[in-house]
Amino acid sequence: MISAPAIELPAGAVHLWYTSATQTRIPSDQHLPILDEKERCRAARFHFDRDRELFILARASLRCLLARYTGVDPTRIRFKQNPYGKLFIEHPASSVRFNVAHSGDCIVHAIAQGSEVGVDIEILRNSAELTSISSYFAPGEQAWLLAAGAQARDTRFFTLWTCKEAYIKALGQGLSKPLDSFEISFAEGGEPKILSDSGNNAHPGSWRLLRFEPRRNVLGCVAVDVASTRVELLDYDTGALLRRIV
Ligand SMILES: CC(C)(COP(=O)(O)OP(=O)(O)OC[C@H]1O[C@@H](n2cnc3c(N)ncnc32)[C@H](O)[C@@H]1OP(=O)(O)O)[C@@H](O)C(=O)NCCC(=O)NCCS
Repeated sequence: MISAPAIELPAGAVHLWYTSATQTRIPSDQHLPILDEKERCRAARFHFDRDRELFILARASLRCLLARYTGVDPTRIRFKQNPYGKLFIEHPASSVRFNVAHSGDCIVHAIAQGSEVGVDIEILRNSAELTSISSYFAPGEQAWLLAAGAQARDTRFFTLWTCKEAYIKALGQGLSKPLDSFEISFAEGGEPKILSDSGNNAHPGSWRLLRFEPRRNVLGCVAVDVASTRVELLDYDTGALLRRIV
C-alpha cells in the first residue's frame, strides 16, 4: 500500500482504514523515510520500541493514504494542528478531513471529504481500573453503565468511551471538552444518539455515531456528518473492503 492508485471519495462517503502493527506485512523499513523531520524526532523520543513502531506506522500509513486522496507525494504533505492537537492538511490545499485512533497494535484512519470526522478504537479489556473516569460522564451515562451486569460492564464502558471520544475528536476539542457536557444514549439495537450538548454552538443533531469492530474484541466508533450515506471499513495492507458500516 506504500505506492498505490488514487482513491476517489464521493460526497457523503467516509473511509475507515484498519491496520495492525503486529499483522501488517508491509516492511517497517519502508515507513520511516516517509516521515518528516519533526515526526522522526517525535518517534525517537518514545521510550518503548512498540510505541515508536506504532507511531511510525500510524503516521506513514496516514501520509500514504492522504497522498492517494490528494494526489501529492506522501513526503510532501504538511500538517497543521488546532489548539487542541487535531491534525489538518496544510499542504496541499484540500477538503479532505481525517482523524486517527490507535489502541494496542491497532490503528484506524477515518477519511472524509469536506466534513469533519472523529474516530476512536479501544481494545476490549477489563475496565475496573478505569471506572473512576465514569464519574466524569453525564448522569444518564453513569446510570447506563451501572445498570450493566458484571459481564456486560467492560463492553458498555468501552462502547461509551469510544463514542464519547469519537465525538470530541470530531469536534476537534479532545479532552478539553468536559465529558459531562454532552450525553449519549444507547437504545437497544439502534445507533447511539447524542441526546444533548451544553457546549457553545453545539449541534448534536448534525452528527451520527457509528459503531464498528475492526477486528474481534476491538470496539470502534466514528462520528460523521449526519448526511454521510456510505461508511466503509477497509484493510490498509490489501485495500480490501472488510465491511460496509452504512
Ligand atoms: C484526542 C484524545 C482525546 C485522544 O487520545 P487517545 O485516546 O490517547 O488517542 P487516540 O489513539 O484515540 O487518538 C490519538 C490521535 O488523535 C489525534 N488528536 C489529537 N488531539 C486531537 C483533538 N483535539 N481532536 C481530534 N483528534 C486529535 C492525533 O492525530 C492523535 O494521533 P497522533 O498522536 O499519532 O498524532 C486526547 O486528547 C487525549 O488526551 N486522550 C486521553 C485518553 C485517555 O485518557 N484514555 C484513557 C481511557 S480508555
